[in-house]
Amino acid sequence: MKKNISVVPVLINKNLRLAARAFSGISGIRMAHLRPKRDFNYNHFKNLSLVYFKLTAACNLRCVMCGQYGDKGNMKDCAAEEAKKSLPLETWMRFTDEIAQQRPVTYIWGGEPFLYPDLMPLARYMVKKGLFVSVNTNGTLMERYAEDIVRDKWGAILVSLDAFRDVNDSLRGKGSYDKVIAGFKAVNREKKKQKKRLPLLGIVTVVTNRNYLDLVNLTDASREYNIDLHIMNLGTYTNENIVAAQKQFMKEKLDTDIDCLESYNTGYNLGIDGKKLHGILQDIHSKNHGHPILTVPALNPEKTHTYYAELETPVRNHCVVPWCQANVNYNGDVHFCADYPDYILGNITQQSFRDIVNGDRANTFRKTIHACEGGMFPGCLRCYQNMLFGRKIKGY
Ligand SMILES: C[S@@+](CC[C@H](N)C(=O)[O-])C[C@H]1O[C@@H](n2cnc3c(N)ncnc32)[C@H](O)[C@@H]1O
Ligand code: SF4
Repeated sequence: MKKNISVVPVLINKNLRLAARAFSGISGIRMAHLRPKRDFNYNHFKNLSLVYFKLTAACNLRCVMCGQYGDKGNMKDCAAEEAKKSLPLETWMRFTDEIAQQRPVTYIWGGEPFLYPDLMPLARYMVKKGLFVSVNTNGTLMERYAEDIVRDKWGAILVSLDAFRDVNDSLRGKGSYDKVIAGFKAVNREKKKQKKRLPLLGIVTVVTNRNYLDLVNLTDASREYNIDLHIMNLGTYTNENIVAAQKQFMKEKLDTDIDCLESYNTGYNLGIDGKKLHGILQDIHSKNHGHPILTVPALNPEKTHTYYAELETPVRNHCVVPWCQANVNYNGDVHFCADYPDYILGNITQQSFRDIVNGDRANTFRKTIHACEGGMFPGCLRCYQNMLFGRKIKGY
């Protein structure tokens, strides 16, 4: 199965300058594996390769497996209150000014980023400042912004789609599939009209026991959407034992109470036949869809079973995130772990981002994770950031 880096040739074909930027982001993350794991008295700011902008807590969908709004989602009961805490455009612009010189790849997400009222001016400003802007969205609100998206030179839009129409809608909500396709069509129409090759259009699919048998239907249908990339995300899962171990560890070592990991204890991994899924993925990878398909993480046949049935067995380790990435939340809090915003490093409304990533809390986190066996915490076993950027364990 293809490596993550195989997206770069697709990008080169679209825009050389952006390809160079994306490449430098990916290689910056790879370099983080090679560099000594420094903590205190070092300028980590200059090694930041990927910065997440989580613009809003609000979302218009309730996807069943989602850690924020799904069956076990930790935002379900406080969405309206949290959505009020979104930072104003000026704060995000100031933040953009601070990181622009470093040229990290940026990744806008949420909640649903199209619900942030100033998404369009912010993305425009970020592009103007020379940043590679990628946006992860549920795609249901994209259609009406197609003209601006293309004109403003967004780098990439990664749209979540989990299966063909009926199965997708049973997971993500009625009508969501057709809205996404209308969005793809509108962006493609605009690219043609404005004679532009960007943004790259991608699909991101989260594999669960509810959709894995339908993946072929989705990939077959996707030939017609004129997309550039399809990512199969094998999914973030956990169980009671892992949550308990992480709770105890974070309390003891970092004096932090956690509640985010539990929301991935959804059970949507249960019953996935690893052998069958591997066959499905092999079949998908063997066909020419007109765009690359990446599986994250790519696994050997027997390990596919392990991934879903033996959650306590690591498949990647040595997290590099604290040495090359950071997530800024809708309220300005900064974290390393985008999906688990429990340990707060600082807040961009009170301190410069540089001081936050070089600060004591950030360094204590680095020191603690580096001292762990395998270079990760007990709760990191199926973390998406680690699946993407962690070190491969032999045989996987
Ligand atoms: C939380 S969403 C936020 C952005 C936007 N609302 C969307 O759905 O694309 C970010 C990504 O996480 C994915 N996701 C949701 N639940 C997941 C899970 N349990 N494991 C891994 N990824 C998941 C979504 O499909 C999406 O691609
Ligand atoms: S659209 Fe995104 S944030 Fe909203 S519920 Fe679905 S996965 Fe979660």
